[in-house]
Amino acid sequence: MTATISSPGGAPHARIMSVGSYRPERVVTNAEVCELIDSTDEWIRERSGIVERRYAAPDETVVDIGVAAATKAIDASGIAAEQIGFVLVATVTHPYPTPSAAAELAYRVGALDAAATDISSACAGFCYGVALAQDMIRGGSAEYVLVVGVEKLTDWVDPTDRSTAFIFADGAGAVVIGPSQTPAIGPVVWGADGEQLDAITMTQSLTDYRDHGGPRFPTLAMKGQQVFRWAVSKMTEVAKLAVAKAGITADDLDAFIPHQANMRITDAMVRSLGLPAHVPVARDIETTGNTSAASIPIAMDRMLASGEVPHGGLALTIGFGAGLAYAAQVVVLP
Ligand code: UT7
Repeated sequence: MTATISSPGGAPHARIMSVGSYRPERVVTNAEVCELIDSTDEWIRERSGIVERRYAAPDETVVDIGVAAATKAIDASGIAAEQIGFVLVATVTHPYPTPSAAAELAYRVGALDAAATDISSACAGFCYGVALAQDMIRGGSAEYVLVVGVEKLTDWVDPTDRSTAFIFADGAGAVVIGPSQTPAIGPVVWGADGEQLDAITMTQSLTDYRDHGGPRFPTLAMKGQQVFRWAVSKMTEVAKLAVAKAGITADDLDAFIPHQANMRITDAMVRSLGLPAHVPVARDIETTGNTSAASIPIAMDRMLASGEVPHGGLALTIGFGAGLAYAAQVVVLP
């Protein structure tokens, strides 16, 4: 007779225990970006809501800035780094296909025995990480999970490309997720639309560039209008579904923290969600730019630190971007 293998479950639920973020020191104004593109401060503010952004220093790596955010999240969590069982790093800008950013980051923050891997879901990566962490904790494969969203987009953006140069920036945010007796992370609504791969992609593959050369080292290429239309139409439906699946209404929310893609996308989503006026909305893009996988935890940390949103309140989070990948869930704020 075949022996039965044991399959113990984990905690009943999971919760975000803490958040930490890191915004690189160097402030870059629209005027500075416009030195290399045909644009104006006025156009950038009006079309994206961005006034300034942060760039990492040339010698600051993706893992360096991820460690800075993760250390703050671990310090605030009340657990020791050695208790972390899994490290998930959401990033598309780590310059090594292998080894992962997560393996290096886990070692550097002291999560020495943790399993570690990267998530490649672009601007949806942080919300993917939160959903995966919750399933690991409930499934019993980890008790505590560190989820980091980190990007150094300046390494992969052409500063002379006026369709991307003004929007993308660098930063990192992290959360520690652990067991909970009560539900604190709502059901995720997620997916990816490979039919629209060309909406956000690279100008060329790295191997193609190696073998055949090209006008310049491969950088990000974005069909801004296509992504904009998709975000405003499809993502509003995804956000509504995440709220419904959490068993609440928009009126119950204490915060709306969408990926900081473009202020006009945020405004359009607020309108079509019918978000009540009393719900604070993350508008961190104004001073941080679009930091892809890092934008939601950076904005969450800022809103909590400023007292704009309450600890223990309900926040709707939604990430969306290249892939075209997306994920949304309602979470209890740490
Ligand atoms: O985070 C990952 C997901 N990414 C996103 O969600 C980004 C979504 N897309 C966007 O945020 C917007 O599409 C952008 C902010 C990137 C661009 O704004 P837009 O309103 O969609 O601009 P557009 O591409 O439709 O261009 C409008 C006009 C054009 O001129 P004409 O044809 O109307 O004369 C462009 O040539 O603005 C011109 N333009 C610019 N002008 C000054 C395009 N880029 C620039 C620029 N500065 N940088």
